Amino acid sequence: AATVPTVGAATVARAATGSSSLVFDPSAYTEQTIAIKDTTGTVHSVTYRFHKVASYVAAPVDPTYQSLNISVPVAIDGTAVDASDAPVLLANQVGGYLPSSVANATGIGATGMGGGTSRQGLALAAGYVVVEPGARGRSLVDANGTYYGTAPAAIVDLKAAVRYLKANQGRVPGNTARIVSSGVSAGGALSALLGASGDSPLYEPYLEEIGAADASDAIFASGDWCPITDLEHADAAYEWNWGASPLPSGATVDAAISADLKAQYTDYLAALRLRAPGYGTLTARNLDTYILETFIQPSATTYLAALTEDARAAYLAANPFITWSGGRAGFTWADFLTHVGARKKNAPSFDAFDLSTPECNLYGTGTTRARHFTLYSLRHEAGSSARLDADIPAKLALMNPMHHLGGRANPHRARHWWIRVGTKDSDTSLSVVANLATRLTGLGDQVNTSYYWDAGHGADLDPADFVSWIGKVSG
Ligand code: DHB
Repeated sequence: AATVPTVGAATVARAATGSSSLVFDPSAYTEQTIAIKDTTGTVHSVTYRFHKVASYVAAPVDPTYQSLNISVPVAIDGTAVDASDAPVLLANQVGGYLPSSVANATGIGATGMGGGTSRQGLALAAGYVVVEPGARGRSLVDANGTYYGTAPAAIVDLKAAVRYLKANQGRVPGNTARIVSSGVSAGGALSALLGASGDSPLYEPYLEEIGAADASDAIFASGDWCPITDLEHADAAYEWNWGASPLPSGATVDAAISADLKAQYTDYLAALRLRAPGYGTLTARNLDTYILETFIQPSATTYLAALTEDARAAYLAANPFITWSGGRAGFTWADFLTHVGARKKNAPSFDAFDLSTPECNLYGTGTTRARHFTLYSLRHEAGSSARLDADIPAKLALMNPMHHLGGRANPHRARHWWIRVGTKDSDTSLSVVANLATRLTGLGDQVNTSYYWDAGHGADLDPADFVSWIGKVSG
């Protein structure tokens, strides 16, 4: 049996049967005070209650991952705060589709990557409840060699965490009708998926299997940074975007493979039937112009407008491909690609022929560590009559937010979206975020999308704006 993490007084209540109780115990917490520096540099003293929940499911496969922590502010800079009806930031820590655990954490993860204040820290200092869930991930393997964290484990776990919170509305601090999810990269993909797939019946058998609470798993809002998503179309998207770019070594990718994949993107876009005002139906022909004008040139404009006149002149001198006129940046798609430079990944970028990518492992099953999840890569290796394993199509749908937003879009999806990506992020195609944002906008959702100029993978350049956005949309 797995050990139950215990921290001071925050030993988590267990039912007499020995299975995890799904009833939140508000009296089990440690009170802690930490210093949190906000984005202006002001340091706040935040006293908060730190609750550890040993498992958010009744039949955990591995509570090291299927556990969560809740941080509730009680005083900020000496002033009491009441977070009982505050928005709830559900901040997943997933990276690389790997397992993520909060079981050993003894306090909120207030320090982010790079040493600054994390998104959770900023949210706590703003008076919000912060929930940090763990989740199973692709690399987990048991003593029999069985992979137990491959798709769809991570999204099932995050949904179970939401259900736990909602089942405990009134006991758990915060307003569980105002759950705002956040995540970066693979975590951004899962955050988007959590937002898109709320209450989908497709996950029901998986949630039942782990003893998830009987409650809704729909969330209010979704914050998604550089989501590595739409995986089964990501190889095609990548060649559409970065196909002509060199690898970091200076070499170019196999032109025939790149061309094959790029051609697939034409069909995918036709099937997506994305529309945008002024552009009509988005196709492989007009998508670059649309993304350039809608997201990337405005990104450069925002960047340049914020510079001093001297700094802007210097940037423009160093980047003569940009025209600056009427307070707006202009440039071509081709020059933009040259400016970004090398592509990060070879072709195919996600369903690698040799199964070496994180995504092939994500689609592993049983004792098989990694599998192909696109027909193209499978057939490249196994011959032209090979078929994807029978369970793959259903698992792709379980992992892809676009699946839940097309056709009759999921009516229980989040309606508020914060979507971010850096313009120099070639971990995936820049069209992934554009397609997601465009689909959501077309559905009438409130979508706040921004591309960070010249920023790379994982960037978050406006964290304070996200925190105030939570307050605004939740109000
Ligand atoms: C992540 C990055 C990737 O390039 C990828 O393919 C999957 C996940 C990540 O940073 O989480």
